[in-house]
Amino acid sequence: MAVYLVTGGAGFIGSNIVEELLRQGAHVRVVDNFATGKPENLESFKDRIDFREVDVCDLNALKAAVRGTDYVLHQAAIPSVPKSVIDPITSHNADLTGTLHALWAAKEAGVKRFVYAASSSAYGENPELPKREEMPARAISPYGLMKYVGEEYCWLFTQLYGLETVSLRYFNVFGPRQDPSSQYSGVLSRFITAMLAGERPVIFGDGGQSRDFTYVSNVVQGNLLACHASGAAGKMYNLACGRRIDLNEVVAQLNGILGTSLEPVYEASRIGDIRHSLAEISRARTDLKYSPSVQFEEGLRMTVDWYRQNFG
Ligand code: UD1
Repeated sequence: MAVYLVTGGAGFIGSNIVEELLRQGAHVRVVDNFATGKPENLESFKDRIDFREVDVCDLNALKAAVRGTDYVLHQAAIPSVPKSVIDPITSHNADLTGTLHALWAAKEAGVKRFVYAASSSAYGENPELPKREEMPARAISPYGLMKYVGEEYCWLFTQLYGLETVSLRYFNVFGPRQDPSSQYSGVLSRFITAMLAGERPVIFGDGGQSRDFTYVSNVVQGNLLACHASGAAGKMYNLACGRRIDLNEVVAQLNGILGTSLEPVYEASRIGDIRHSLAEISRARTDLKYSPSVQFEEGLRMTVDWYRQNFG
């Protein structure tokens, strides 16, 4: 039976992928160094996975972890735009050197396919919407640049070494297990936990900025399809819902779900922030047969329920 390796498997998106793979009966190996991932994320299925505490910056340890696997789903990263602005070197090591290591280890181990967690932040400041994969990348943060260069490495590994790679550009993923505890955490985890505690959510800027918020199960689906879709090797795909919602509207919807009427607090906008983000997802629909099955409103309700149970 095929063995799947999820790097960053103790993280938010990684642990959701692991859980679905287990549900489908797959053999799952997990690599994480708990830099941003957490043991609690693996708690409910820890006896059913082969866990290796490995830092992706440690090439030899990573090579040993990749050996004997068939598919690598590379999620390990420091997934934060502002953190990369403050400390680009630490982000570079985890996000780009770590990706090169994972690719090299996968190539050496002869894995069948390598699926890479890329980012919509690669599109940067080009104001044209929706974002199509053909558009040139122009990252405006170190994070966006590293994630983009990682995609180029994936493509190159397919060309040079015949390693099948697929890059998936995630657009603002949210859902259960997203860590709300840092100021750099994803905005929905911040808003939901603040509002559940009766506090006013903090908006950086005027709240008119919008995102193509994507519930995590859609991203999980995209990853599993990308492992097997024929003709996808060496390609890059947007993974999103194809709809954008601004932050003021998000707060309004949360007030509706929670039965509150909390007004946001507006603070200065963040450096490196982009204004709008919206994906064209027809390439993933066609090639991967991807179809986002959970829309924003439903995902938001399920996410609120999860935080209520786990942080309430
Ligand atoms: C997010 C991801 C990043 C991904 C990128 C593109 C996170 C933490 N970051 O970056 O990994 O590559 O999308 O898909 O998920 N904001 C507030 N209040 C807060 C927090 C944020 O107003 O308390 C604002 C930010 O200024 C920004 C928007 O909300 O305008 C989204 O921020 P954030 O959730 O950090 O995501 P991105 O920066 O878009």
